[in-house]
Amino acid sequence: MADAPELDGLLEFSEETDRDSGRFFVGREAETGRVGKAAEKWTRSVKSGDAPLGVVLISGAPGAGKTALLGQLLKHPPPTTAALSVPLLRLSSEAELVRSLTDALTKPAGRVAGGLRPSGVTANLGLAKFSWGLSSTPPTTLGDLDRGLSVGGGAAAAMLLIDEVQTATPDQVRMLAALHLGATGFPLVPVLAGLSDSSDVLSAGGISRRAATYDIRLDRLHEGEPAEAVRMMLGEYRVRGPEPVRARWCRAIEAISDRWPQHVKTAMTALARELLRADGELERADWERTRNDAAALRTRGYEARRSPHMRRAGTLLARFLEETPLPADEERAIRHLEGLMTGGPAGGMAPGAFFDHLVHQGVLHDPEGTGEYVCPIPSLRDYLIRRGQAGHAEPGDARP
Ligand SMILES: Nc1ncnc2c1ncn2[C@@H]1O[C@H](COP(=O)(O)OP(=O)(O)O)[C@@H](O)[C@H]1O
Ligand SMILES: [Mg+2]
Repeated sequence: MADAPELDGLLEFSEETDRDSGRFFVGREAETGRVGKAAEKWTRSVKSGDAPLGVVLISGAPGAGKTALLGQLLKHPPPTTAALSVPLLRLSSEAELVRSLTDALTKPAGRVAGGLRPSGVTANLGLAKFSWGLSSTPPTTLGDLDRGLSVGGGAAAAMLLIDEVQTATPDQVRMLAALHLGATGFPLVPVLAGLSDSSDVLSAGGISRRAATYDIRLDRLHEGEPAEAVRMMLGEYRVRGPEPVRARWCRAIEAISDRWPQHVKTAMTALARELLRADGELERADWERTRNDAAALRTRGYEARRSPHMRRAGTLLARFLEETPLPADEERAIRHLEGLMTGGPAGGMAPGAFFDHLVHQGVLHDPEGTGEYVCPIPSLRDYLIRRGQAGHAEPGDARP
């Protein structure tokens, strides 16, 4: 039957991990637009011989949708741009990066070696615009690559998409800095994504926030967008049910998601699992079970986020997070942490290191870049407080 529910699809979706980000992508038009504008500005400055303009940094707490947005930019680059995605690992050395870029720029669009997936390269940045004579030796340094590039008339900037940039090593940041300061004519705009501490990691390597960086902060989705994602899912898997029931489920899933992308995904996973039990019939799906399943999945995600250090310092962390609001700036917050450390260092860490660790884990986030940290996800905060209060019973807490 042509319109039978797609149970296999529902099963696949319900088993997807967060690594497979970005199915049923919704919203983020403003953010995509800003990335497009930045790339256009790059193109203009490259054409007029001005210095490149910095990097685009997409930041947000875990689950805000950074990886999904990069995926979307790769699949659908804004007009006049092309997109290349390079795993941070490929920035292991200049030669390796240059090899990745050369591959991507010379091979036709499609999957190429090393997990590098160019998209839009043929359309906007085809061989015609980039060449370094077939007879000459392949470029091995960014300088070679730069000199070999001939940028044609309508050439656009290519975005170099790099995720998890908060984990970049100093060497990798140095390489990003070389791109960001790249000699004129190198039309590659780094589009980086990472947690709150990304800008610190970058500025330690000479890429300062003030260097005309386009700073894009991801927050919750807009009203109606999560419902739209649910509707896309129901359509894709040909779930059956009359319109009023569909509309009710879309609204209900949006309501329990707080419009936070990770929670949207979790709630949609719970719905997919329930629909499998209901043979793809929305009217037979049970709301209570779906809601409880969504909550359980969310909790499991939070538990996975607790690092060994956070487990060992669970009680201390709970007492710190209970403070509302948190001390106004980083320095005060660290002093406050220190004051709470009556039982010795937190999970084996000094106050400053523990604070940095919490930022790195996405437990603390600086939404405005002003040094005022918050726990970005209220239910994560509640969870960590609850766990910390029950912390004594935890095997992890007992270890030194
Ligand atoms: N704009 C969006 N539309 C639909 N789903 C999204 C969107 N952004 C994120 N998601 C979903 O939310 C989850 C978390 O997103 P992800 O990109 O992994 O977050 P981050 O990289 O910021 O930690 C993923 O499962 C992803 O599919
Ligand atoms: Mg991610």
